[in-house]
Amino acid sequence: MLKVSNLNVSIGPIPIIRDASLAVNEGEMCGLIGRNGAGKTTLLRALMGAIPATGKVDLGHIDLLALPAHRRAGHGVGYMPEDRRLVPEFTVEENIRLPTWSTRVDGVDQRLEWIFTIMPEVARFTQRRALELSGGQQKMVALARALMAGTRILLLDEPLAGMGSEDSARMVELLQKLKQAHAMMLVEHDMDAVFALADRLTVMVDGRVLESGAPDAIRASAAVQEAYFGTEGAA
Ligand SMILES: Nc1ncnc2c1ncn2[C@@H]1O[C@H](COP(=O)(O)OP(=O)(O)OP(=O)(O)O)[C@@H](O)[C@H]1O
Ligand SMILES: [Mg+2]
Repeated sequence: MLKVSNLNVSIGPIPIIRDASLAVNEGEMCGLIGRNGAGKTTLLRALMGAIPATGKVDLGHIDLLALPAHRRAGHGVGYMPEDRRLVPEFTVEENIRLPTWSTRVDGVDQRLEWIFTIMPEVARFTQRRALELSGGQQKMVALARALMAGTRILLLDEPLAGMGSEDSARMVELLQKLKQAHAMMLVEHDMDAVFALADRLTVMVDGRVLESGAPDAIRASAAVQEAYFGTEGAA
């Protein structure tokens, strides 16, 4: 479904992502883990077209890197950025609809209704402005917005970061539910959550993919232990 081959991203003269190859299969949740600064966010931003990249990214039969950034969401790619990026003055509903303004998304109203069904907590404050919401509520809205365009694949950058334990448990429950119908790439530092949720994990170290495999294999990998979990513990 999503196949990333030899992706390279430089910011200015500095290579940040180096020859990264990974895949997310149909209906699969792929966890993307790595220490702070490993390049996880940069990889997702490159997939969405926020920064230029070379290499090849196939989404089904579509050559994603060949598309301008504003057209990528229209191919069923939903993105939840690390820092939420809601428009503070817009209402919750306007924020959720935002990806459909710049790109064609079929059945917007039905999709929105479905999102409100699975996230009734968001349906309760659709007309409030984003700036009036708590951090946890904003995360929920950011997930709802990703779902608006993300009919095929969701790219989620730390959905659990900065959440209290109750909000976090709810987010995990939602991801578990969404997993059945969506391919997902889940960047997360909460190792308990990511090992429990993901079908497969990809470990990044210093802009490169160190290893991909089933959670048990990754946990048991000597290379991963050394490079990631190491003596300093998980990031
Ligand atoms: N806009 C930028 N300008 C310069 N360097 C950047 C920029 N964005 C990221 N970097 C650098 O790229 C590298 C990868 O950063 P990135 O944010 O992708 O890491 P990450 O794996 O998402 O880390 P974290 O787990 O802390 O979110 C880091 O060395 C970072 O300093
Ligand atoms: Mg990041």
